[in-house]
Amino acid sequence: MRAVALPILDATHDLDPAAIESVRERGHCVVRGLATAEECASYLPEIQDGVDRWHPEPSPLADRDTYGKAFLQAMALRSVHKQTRGFVDSPRFAGVAAELLGVEGVRLYHDQALFKEAGGGRTPWHQDQNYWPLDTDDIVTMWMPLVDLDPAVGSMTFLDASHLDGDVGAGEISDSSDAAIERSIAVGNRSTTTHGALAAGDATFHKGWTIHSAGPNPTDATRPVMTIIWFADGARITEPNSPQQEFDLATWLDNGTPGTVAAGRRNPRLWPPS
Ligand code: SIN
Ligand code: NI
Repeated sequence: MRAVALPILDATHDLDPAAIESVRERGHCVVRGLATAEECASYLPEIQDGVDRWHPEPSPLADRDTYGKAFLQAMALRSVHKQTRGFVDSPRFAGVAAELLGVEGVRLYHDQALFKEAGGGRTPWHQDQNYWPLDTDDIVTMWMPLVDLDPAVGSMTFLDASHLDGDVGAGEISDSSDAAIERSIAVGNRSTTTHGALAAGDATFHKGWTIHSAGPNPTDATRPVMTIIWFADGARITEPNSPQQEFDLATWLDNGTPGTVAAGRRNPRLWPPS
C-alpha cells in the first residue's frame, strides 16, 4: 500500500463554449488540460493497481478475439480499489459532464480503465448506449489518457453527428459492428473526426449513441486510459432488452426496478457535489 496523498480534483474547469456546441452538434468534443500531468501521474499507479487486480495474468494477445485484443478493461475501479475514488468522483470532471450535457446534475454510471497494450489491436466501430437500460440520451463518457499519447496510437475517432442517429442496430462491439458501421459510413459519405494524440489530462467526451473506434497500438508501451460515464440525474431505468442490458441492470444499477429513477448504491450524484 502506497502512503501518498492523492490530489483532490475539485477545482472547477473553465469550459470553452465551443466544446458544448461540439457535443450538441457532433456528439463529441475534446477538452484540453482538464487534469494536470502531475494529477494523472499521481493516479496512474492506483489505476494500474486496479487493472492488475482485474487482469493478474492477461492471456497472450494472439489467443484473444478482436474485442479482447483492443484493450484490457477494468471496471468499477472506485469500488475495487478505493484509492481511485478521488479520480472517479472528481467534481471537476462531473461538472464538465453536466455542462456538456446541459443538465443540472449528473450521477455516475460507472468507471472503467481501458489499457491498450503494446501490440494491441484496433477498437472496432461501435455504440456504447445499446448496453445501457436507461431512458435518457443525456449520457456522456470521458476518455482521458494518463500519459502523453504517442501519435502512432492517438485517441478515438468519432462518426460526426451519429449521436442523432440513435441505435443503428450494429449490436455489441465486434468484427460485425465494425463491418456494418464501416459500410454505412461509406454509403452515407459521412465525416469522421479524431482529436489526435492527446496529452496526459486532455480528454475527449462522447455521447452514448456517438459511434466511435480507435486505432491499434503499434508501439511497445501500454496506452493507459481512464474513462468515466455519467447520466443526467433523474434518468429512469428501462426494461432490459438484451443479456448485456440485464448485466448492466444488475451490475451498475443495483437491480433497480424498470420505471424507477436510477439512483442505486453505485450511482452517487457527483454534480452538483453534495
Ligand atoms: C478505446 O479506448 O480504444 C475505446 C474506448 C471506447 O470504446 O469508449
Ligand atoms: Ni465505446
